[in-house]
Amino acid sequence: MKKEILVILKSNPGKYVSGEEISNQLGVSRTAIWKHIQGLREEGYQLDSQSRRGYCLREVPDKLFPEEVQEGLNTRVMGKCIVYYKSLGSTNDMAKKLARQGAAEGMVVVAEEQSGGKGRRGRFWVSPEGQGVWMSVVLRPKLSPAKAPIITIMAAVAVARAISRVCGQKIGIKWPNDIVFQGKKLAGILTEMSAENDFINHVVLGIGTNVNIPPEGFPVELQEKGTSLSIIASHRVSRKLYLQALLEELEKVYAQLCLEDFAGIMEGWREYSVTLGEDVRIEGINEVLFGRAVDVDSQGVLLLRQKNGEIVRILAGDVTLRKDDGCYS
Ligand code: BTN
Repeated sequence: MKKEILVILKSNPGKYVSGEEISNQLGVSRTAIWKHIQGLREEGYQLDSQSRRGYCLREVPDKLFPEEVQEGLNTRVMGKCIVYYKSLGSTNDMAKKLARQGAAEGMVVVAEEQSGGKGRRGRFWVSPEGQGVWMSVVLRPKLSPAKAPIITIMAAVAVARAISRVCGQKIGIKWPNDIVFQGKKLAGILTEMSAENDFINHVVLGIGTNVNIPPEGFPVELQEKGTSLSIIASHRVSRKLYLQALLEELEKVYAQLCLEDFAGIMEGWREYSVTLGEDVRIEGINEVLFGRAVDVDSQGVLLLRQKNGEIVRILAGDVTLRKDDGCYS
């Protein structure tokens, strides 16, 4: 009902629509309409009401409500179902639970804030209320688990394209999937998979993007490492438009993944790579390696040439780039 009332009010921008007209169109009483209007106000919609004229929608809140995100969203699968929370521990944990219960491909969990946002390698992901897009999407790719690293690479391409669309800035991807601007992190991706030996049950792709976090909004220890879309664009960025762009870009690149067009995905990734050709330090689970990042293969595996000329295949790790002064950061 909330959605239907909003459709009527939005199709009359700046105009009053009488309670009677709305109730006639929707086939419910005027009292019911009034109650829903109160509910919308509580959610942050600014609605004027005048006794003889009815209701007029003045402002839509900056919230990622499903009906707002889905309005004008140009996708067939991604975000067709959106589960919204004001606050959640981690959208990945909730999406995994829903995926185990059979959630369809493309289902999105989004939260205004996360109290236990998870980063890679067990780190905490800062997710303040209303200042970012903290979301997870359920995927069910018909891929062998061995090919899973390409999923994260694919997501990085979608995020990079979506950010470029809304910010118009040249951003980069640091292997495998850190989205950076001038060395500072804008967005991160955490992929979690449930698989058997030879097939994937589901993948939860968690994407956290710092959208409107001001410089002082980061904890002190992250102020030199993190940045946000509003900082790099020098203006507030609509979270709704960004999330729509992200879902649209994800749908396009995921279609390539389903066709196993990994070369096409890698081509997209290379356009944004800030890692290839660089001297890097890679912190793996048990070791630290140094060398030059010479290439990424069609599965998303990084090829590192060490000083002795040996090429090592790196499946996962944290990359730091060597700066001009010879230090790594
Ligand atoms: C990284 O360390 O770079 C990955 C960060 C991923 C954060 C996102 S925010 C939405 C989703 N829910 C989580 O708990 N984590 C991911």
